[in-house]
Amino acid sequence: MELAGRIALVSGGGGGIGGGIAEAFVEKGMKVVITDLNLDYAKAEAERIGGGVLALQHDVASLESWAEVKRTALAAFGAVDVLCNNAGVAQPFKLLDEVTPEEFDRLMAINVRGIYNGVVTFARDMRDRGHGHIVNTSSMNGLLAHGTFAAYSASKFAVAGMSEALRAELEPFGVGVSILYPGLTRSRMSEGQAPGLDAQLAEALRSRMMQPIWLGRAVAHAVENNELHIITHPGHRAQVEARFQGILAAHGNPAEPGYRGGSFSGD
Ligand SMILES: NC(=O)c1ccc[n+]([C@@H]2O[C@H](COP(=O)([O-])OP(=O)(O)OC[C@H]3O[C@@H](n4cnc5c(N)ncnc54)[C@H](O)[C@@H]3O)[C@@H](O)[C@H]2O)c1
Repeated sequence: MELAGRIALVSGGGGGIGGGIAEAFVEKGMKVVITDLNLDYAKAEAERIGGGVLALQHDVASLESWAEVKRTALAAFGAVDVLCNNAGVAQPFKLLDEVTPEEFDRLMAINVRGIYNGVVTFARDMRDRGHGHIVNTSSMNGLLAHGTFAAYSASKFAVAGMSEALRAELEPFGVGVSILYPGLTRSRMSEGQAPGLDAQLAEALRSRMMQPIWLGRAVAHAVENNELHIITHPGHRAQVEARFQGILAAHGNPAEPGYRGGSFSGD
């Protein structure tokens, strides 16, 4: 998709990765709406970026809030061409059985249901127009699972699976879907993990954070070229490869001797 003059909506755009995506879209000449649960964050980021970015208050966990944001964006700029479902929250590092039901439900409500809500709000319009693109923010934790981060990983694996299925659903209508899998990137979320660590470790963590604008430019490139997977931190390649090798290696003989079922949708 040629981006100049198009309209984008970036949820959770009040800083960090969403801010980087919005900034990269403005560089491309797009009109951009950033939304955030915290309106002050969104306004400050819109001001930092410039280019007429519109800042709106938004709770991605609420379909009513999505409807309101859609109405306002339509009135201000017109129909949304590119939807970036980027809002997300993390969890404190702890064992899965120590994650409270409330923490677990909140993660799922924002990281997973929030994206479903965005799709419900915009996908039909995009199908009807035969045009559009949806970018969903997963994480390297959506490809690789680490202990003490299980609930977050569950939410980000869910984003990846949902997005791949969505791409298959929307492709026949000329609508694209991409998945962003960020590694460590400078943001309130990643900075928020540092205080729990000792000073040296916190500094080492900070020094490895990518600047969000580069993720934004990678997203813009993926939308222009309709690419499914957006990998901004290729340093994890060996671990991803090892995980898939393990899955492939488990493909031995069928559990039922002589079973001949092939690979068809629904397997
Ligand atoms: N920073 C990283 O290292 C990293 C790595 C992998 C994935 N991610 C993912 O990137 C996305 C952006 O996170 P970030 O790192 O920029 O952090 P961030 O905290 O700076 O940005 C997330 C934004 O989402 C907003 N938000 C939270 N709940 C919301 C809700 N219910 N409705 C609307 N907005 C809401 C927050 O106010 C915040 O401004 C998230 O989905 C996160 O899981 C981040």
